[in-house]
Amino acid sequence: MKLMNKNLMPTYSRLPISFEKGKGVWVFDKNKNKYLDGLSGIAVNTLGHNHRGLVKAISKQASKLIHVSNYYYIEEQSVLADKLVKLSKLSSVFFCNSGCEANEAAIKLARLHGHKLGIDSPNIIVMEGGFHGRTMGTLSASGGRKYQAGFEPLMSGYIRVPFDEIGAIEKIASKKNKVSAIFVEPIQGEGGVNIPFNFKQYLRKLRQICDQNKWLLIFDEVQCGIGRTGKWFAHQHSSVKPDVMTLAKGLGSGMPIGACIANKTATKLMQPGKHGSTFGGNPLACSAGIATLNAIEKENLIKNASNQGLLITNLLKDKYKKDKNVVSIRSLGLMIGIELSMPCSEIVNIALREKLLINVTADKVIRLLPPLIINQTEAKMLSDRLINTIESFLKNL
Ligand SMILES: Cc1ncc(COP(=O)(O)O)c(C=O)c1O
Repeated sequence: MKLMNKNLMPTYSRLPISFEKGKGVWVFDKNKNKYLDGLSGIAVNTLGHNHRGLVKAISKQASKLIHVSNYYYIEEQSVLADKLVKLSKLSSVFFCNSGCEANEAAIKLARLHGHKLGIDSPNIIVMEGGFHGRTMGTLSASGGRKYQAGFEPLMSGYIRVPFDEIGAIEKIASKKNKVSAIFVEPIQGEGGVNIPFNFKQYLRKLRQICDQNKWLLIFDEVQCGIGRTGKWFAHQHSSVKPDVMTLAKGLGSGMPIGACIANKTATKLMQPGKHGSTFGGNPLACSAGIATLNAIEKENLIKNASNQGLLITNLLKDKYKKDKNVVSIRSLGLMIGIELSMPCSEIVNIALREKLLINVTADKVIRLLPPLIINQTEAKMLSDRLINTIESFLKNL
């Protein structure tokens, strides 16, 4: 089986495996080996693989109309926007194709807002350990030098502060720095599944500072949104509402689609011609978004994410509560991070031998992002396979 091709730009260090098909939480390689998908294509396959409702919706749409320009009114876009506005209690949606594009739209809103406040060169407060994408704008906003090195000059206009530390932001506010927004993941994904210590209070404080200074509060929910944490959007574990929220990954359950959602104030900053996308919000992508949201509702997947996430977390905590090699287990719903005391990137290969797909982020954090359709038996299997994987890894240290 060919697992390399020099005609592909070497942007990824890929694992030596290729998949042919999937069903539910399972994916199959060409030799019919069956793997439990604990990663969902990095929080993408909300409904797992080959979901009947999704496949039916996109097949039907593909046979009617795949793409038309945003020069025209697109019915499916409108239906999906109505749903997202209702769920988020915000006011308008811009559709694009990915997380970084959704964030670019949010960054542009922050800049427009700054200019409206009379700031010539507005800054956005961003977080250490944050990740917002790979375009130059979002790369510059992201916290890791790992992603930025070699791509200088980076885009200016960001002030970086430690995540989950209100004091640093208060200091900036007190110095009358020319700021127009705070841009933050409520739960950091790539940064290591970092959940603010006092989640509700942290978000409440961010909201308060933004209100006091007329800054926009922008939540990047590209990874933690769409039911994954046991609420439609992670910030809904608090009473705080952002001015702008970005989504992508799980929204289309595998079809590329992103969304930047704004409240009334932020919506007013946009006018025709200020932003756009050729593909963004085309009928096919939106039909996947509609089918995904409908299935989440119909199959009660948000509650399921809470239940199965808790089950997996408790099984892992039970096993590792006295093991010094496991520093902490952090989770909200089906966004789960297991931090080891040592770098553990090779554990991904050990997991493959256990027929389990996982990922390691921030060097030491095993990340689980299984599909929201995972059932109790599968959640137990995932925990068992992961425990076997961690045990093999620790034994071979
Ligand atoms: C929180 C967050 N924002 C933005 C992105 C970028 O999304 P995309 O790869 O779709 O551009 C990611 C991707 O991992 C992410 O986790």
